[in-house]
Amino acid sequence: MFNTMTLTKAAGALIGALLFLMLANWGASALFHVGPAGHGGGHGEEELAQAYTIDVPESAEGGEVVEEEIDFGALMANADVAAGEKQWAKCRACHALDGSDGVGPHLNGVVGRDVASIAGFNYSGAMSDHAGEVPVWDAEAIQHFIENPRGVVPGTAMSFGGLKKPEDRANVIAYIESQS
Ligand code: HEC
Repeated sequence: MFNTMTLTKAAGALIGALLFLMLANWGASALFHVGPAGHGGGHGEEELAQAYTIDVPESAEGGEVVEEEIDFGALMANADVAAGEKQWAKCRACHALDGSDGVGPHLNGVVGRDVASIAGFNYSGAMSDHAGEVPVWDAEAIQHFIENPRGVVPGTAMSFGGLKKPEDRANVIAYIESQS
């Protein structure tokens, strides 16, 4: 039934199809890279994150890039305010929660507040520029910033190394919210 000719044809068709899929995939990801790289106004990190998600099928079957993404909403939903108060000790040297500004601007009400919006606080140029990219401090934007302040806002006046554990970030944000 299966002579060599049929087998060769079948194999050829299969390889052709695979090649087509690979090229289509590669072409698609090349296209998707153009957007975020362009830095058009008003695009947040979300779009960048999305570009990486689209990247996954191209890079490998495993999809390892995904494990970088944390479900921060779920962490917030399970956040521990008391544990957050302990983390807050690291912020307290520079930030207050009573509406007064110190080295840093007051953080009561910061969740949902416009970036660099406290009148009378002397923000760095870097932070004022950041407001053009990410206008609002929602929980996601804050957790991203406090993971690595100087990595996310290069040139920021906030000299703080960052909270590396996602749980710590969720907890401290929940604590700030509870005091707002
Ligand atoms: C060593 C002082 C210092 C520490 C510690 C510090 N910050 Fe800051 N923070 C600042 C300064 C200064 C700014 C203003 C940054 C700028 O203008 O570039 C700032 C800005 C911020 C902003 C933006 C506020 C706004 O109005 O736009 C947030 C959010 C923030 N800090 C959160 C935190 C959290 C949460 C912690 C603790 C985990 C923390 N910071 C620890 C000094 C500090």
